[in-house]
Amino acid sequence: MSFHPYPRLSALAVFTFSNLMMATAINAETVDPVKMVDSFEAAGGKFEGYRRSGAKGICATGEFVGSTDGRTLSSASAFSGQKIPVILRFSVGGGNPKAVDNAKSQRNMALQFNLPDGETWQMGNISAPVFGSSTPAQLLGRLESLTPDPSTKAPNPEKVKAFAEANPEVLLQGKYFASQPVPASFASVNYWGVNAFAFVNSKGEKQFGKWIFEPVAGVMGLSDEEAKAKGTSFLFDDLRQRVKDGQVTFNFNLQLAEAGDKLDSATVPLPESRRKVTLGSLKVTAVAEDSGGACRDMTFIPTVLPKGVEPSNDPMLAAREAPYAVGLGRRLSEGSKQ
Ligand code: HEM
Repeated sequence: MSFHPYPRLSALAVFTFSNLMMATAINAETVDPVKMVDSFEAAGGKFEGYRRSGAKGICATGEFVGSTDGRTLSSASAFSGQKIPVILRFSVGGGNPKAVDNAKSQRNMALQFNLPDGETWQMGNISAPVFGSSTPAQLLGRLESLTPDPSTKAPNPEKVKAFAEANPEVLLQGKYFASQPVPASFASVNYWGVNAFAFVNSKGEKQFGKWIFEPVAGVMGLSDEEAKAKGTSFLFDDLRQRVKDGQVTFNFNLQLAEAGDKLDSATVPLPESRRKVTLGSLKVTAVAEDSGGACRDMTFIPTVLPKGVEPSNDPMLAAREAPYAVGLGRRLSEGSKQ
């Protein structure tokens, strides 16, 4: 354990305060956030100084330019059409900072839009259209079922099976990853927001939707042979090279919900037939040389929203902010590493 200077601790204090404000506003379902983070560590291992989820990651910066459709749907200043500076963090799913890059596993893209007048918009997006559980209690139960038994050092297969049989939606995400190739790059996979949000325009009109960041250069995967040949650690250098070549741009697309669509579940995507509009274009312009960068000592809380974007009543959304703050607090006090 090492001593940390005040700036880091004051950053935590700011996040904690805004969390409390948001939690009262959206009435978070209660799963003790400390217990939740403990369960992440118990199930996936504890790696001091690293994020308890998305541990292996790299920071980048970029710019976002909003579209006319964005401005029509939301009064958020992100869509003004001016260049908005963005902090990005790309990562591989899970709490292990040595997670391999050539597995059919989750990739993440977390964003912070730095808006005029000190406003920010944070989000964490994943490379699947669904999350691995639909309620915080179900996530906790799933993590508990996956926690290694101390005597065998492996999860108890009967427990895992019994929990999944009683909660079949926890298997949907794994089935999706198994059906997809290993992503060729952080820059060549779709990233879904998974939770629904409301977009509110200057007339007060509200449109719910779920967003997807889609690479302009297209989705690209590796064959099993290519993935093996790439090895376990190629994603960071690949991203640096593609960004140097000016190739990394995503369309920020919104799938528009219609009356009767389910808006409170991260395991139920909107029907594929729903109309999709492009809210703007996100270009990655620089990648951190090492494990530092602006992302290291911050977290990305998906209920930190600008005026003009509002949360849905998905219980998974409200339940994210406190565990993210707990995770941030732990890694700052341990000496944050990535
Ligand atoms: C109750 C549900 C959830 C809990 C308790 C949870 C917990 C966490 C924690 C503790 C972290 C590490 C935070 C840090 O140290 O900065 C994290 C990171 C992350 N989570 Fe979640 N999560 C939840 C749901 C979700 C969902 C639904 C998504 C999908 C969109 C998601 C996407 C991410 C991403 C992309 C990161 C990495 C962010 C980064 O690079 O800093 N999480 N999560």
